[in-house]
Amino acid sequence: MNVTFFGHSCFLVELEGAKLLFDPFITPNEAAAHIDVAAIQADYVLLTHGHADHVADAADILRRTGSTLIANFEVAAWFEKQGVTKVHAMNHGGCHRFPFGSVKMVNAVHSSSMPDGSYGGNPAGFIIESPEVRFYVSGDTALTLDMKLIKEFHALDWAALCIGDNFTMGARDAARCAQWIGVNRVLGLHYDTFPSICIDHDVAKRHFRAVDVNLLLPKIGERVIL
Ligand code: NI
Ligand code: MN
Repeated sequence: MNVTFFGHSCFLVELEGAKLLFDPFITPNEAAAHIDVAAIQADYVLLTHGHADHVADAADILRRTGSTLIANFEVAAWFEKQGVTKVHAMNHGGCHRFPFGSVKMVNAVHSSSMPDGSYGGNPAGFIIESPEVRFYVSGDTALTLDMKLIKEFHALDWAALCIGDNFTMGARDAARCAQWIGVNRVLGLHYDTFPSICIDHDVAKRHFRAVDVNLLLPKIGERVIL
């Protein structure tokens, strides 16, 4: 499937004719200055947690496109207060069928507060399944044994995993995650945006190659096939 990377943890996929945008953080990202946020179309915006580096452009995009927000209960309620009307709240372990396929909210070991400091519920990852494709989006997380549960119930095609270390898994841990969840293609997220998460791309790719996984690190704005 086609995946467009917009920097940090933000990417867009098209599934059964629906455009799904994950964790939009584009305007404040200097490395994404060439991306025209106003041109991004979306039918659904999925947020893994409330941190600003995942939600910065969400309210604007939701209001402009009339898309539906999918997020945990607290994040969804916070955006409703910002005037976002189409929201679908979920919580951990829950799965819901949307027109494009199903979304399951799974654990992430991290924290979650909103940009104004208010409570952001618990951070999450998503498992998306359609007849066409099945994939996992880790959100910000440490490597956790919970990931081993994913393979018990889901046969995944690919995953989007944080690899930047410091705040989340580094590449070595993310490669282990890829092994546990049984994918051989990974889109790397949450790296190089800030000094504390700058990584050596060759070293990261080597960690994944060691477990026979192809790590994709597209340029910002680039479309890749996963
Ligand atoms: Ni975070
Ligand atoms: Mn983050």
